[in-house]
Amino acid sequence: MAGIIIYQSTYGSTKQYAEWIHEETGFPLFESRDKSIPWAADTIVIGCPLMAFKPALAGWITKRWDKFAGKRVFLFTTSGADPAKQPVRDMVEKALPDQVRQGVRVFPLAGRFDYSKLNGGHKVMMRLAATFSGDIRRQLKHPVDGVARGNLKELIAAIKG
Ligand SMILES: Cc1cc2nc3c(=O)[nH]c(=O)nc-3n(C[C@H](O)[C@H](O)[C@H](O)COP(=O)(O)O)c2cc1C
Repeated sequence: MAGIIIYQSTYGSTKQYAEWIHEETGFPLFESRDKSIPWAADTIVIGCPLMAFKPALAGWITKRWDKFAGKRVFLFTTSGADPAKQPVRDMVEKALPDQVRQGVRVFPLAGRFDYSKLNGGHKVMMRLAATFSGDIRRQLKHPVDGVARGNLKELIAAIKG
């Protein structure tokens, strides 16, 4: 089984999960901006944060869907919202066109969010979002860190299954 892991991460939490998956599976790691992704792999694990209520790579995956189609595809997301308590899965699935949604297995994982550590552009985006979302207002006040290796149990079992 030749597999690869592709990820996008600005603040490190998605990267941390990608590295743990690499340790568990031996699949090599690639950033989504990498030009040398070996698309011949038959299993693709792809991870990105939820940004503005959708997976940051939703459009990226959709644009390249011909490279994913027919393979085993696992999409994990990280988010400030707790995937156990909020409808993160619905948000992820709604952001994907039917064809893509039917071809991926989605694993929403807890991320890490600390407003004080964001770059300037992201601070502006989050302040704007906070004007219409109570959840975002709460996130600005309370840093969250749900990143834990144990969150990968189901995903690793599915990859190995
Ligand atoms: C600009 C921006 C928008 C975000 N939008 C959302 C969102 O809509 N829902 C959510 O639950 N978390 C949101 N987050 C939080 C990220 O999903 C979370 O911090 C994630 O763990 C970041 O991944 P990274 O550490 O790999 O960059 C947002 C973060 C940023 C910086």
